[in-house]
Amino acid sequence: MLVCIPNVLDPAQLVSVRERLDRANSWVDGRVTAGYQGAPLKFNQQIDEQSDVARACQHIVVSALETNPMFISAVLPNALYPPMFNRYGEGMKFGPHVDGSVRISPRDGRKLRTDVSATLFLTNPDEYDGGELVIEDSYGEHTIKLPAGSMVVYPATSLHQVMPITRGVRTACFFWAQSLIRDDSQRLILYDMDSAIQRLNQTNADEVARRQLIGCYHNLVRQWSDT
Ligand code: NI
Repeated sequence: MLVCIPNVLDPAQLVSVRERLDRANSWVDGRVTAGYQGAPLKFNQQIDEQSDVARACQHIVVSALETNPMFISAVLPNALYPPMFNRYGEGMKFGPHVDGSVRISPRDGRKLRTDVSATLFLTNPDEYDGGELVIEDSYGEHTIKLPAGSMVVYPATSLHQVMPITRGVRTACFFWAQSLIRDDSQRLILYDMDSAIQRLNQTNADEVARRQLIGCYHNLVRQWSDT
């Protein structure tokens, strides 16, 4: 399931993150975190994960995610890999790859299964050409280029790539989540069900039926989740 989440960062948060990244001197070659599959395909830069800039920006992004109902509903996060930040200048790209299945948190050494991949766009589409995130799933290819502050989440099992930049610079935040629900098709059912419940809540639909549906939702989460 591929979900675009608008306005994850508000304008003030976006400016705060962008200003820190734009003046940072801790950009390094993106291949430092690539595995043997990704390294030959990856041409970009990343902020050093251990730098003060990374920590400050991670704090802003994670705080925003923790209060975003759409993110929580679509991802049902169990643990987040600390968000990372990258940029692609002209000619840079990341060829087709599948993200590594397990990552070790640089914070506490904890192993995290990557169920969901996320890209939070930090540059508006009119500031660069190329740089689309192209994601393949069983329904075909999806080309994603979102406004700054908006995010896409998609199954980490998907083949994906970042197309070459032909003008400007594309800055983004990316990370992975281990979900409470490992299986993408089960996550989709729960996301649809939660969306329906939210709509029914807004229209003050039959209270008894809503209560039953909410009960079903939680009982499915209980049955399917691993923690
Ligand atoms: Ni990737």
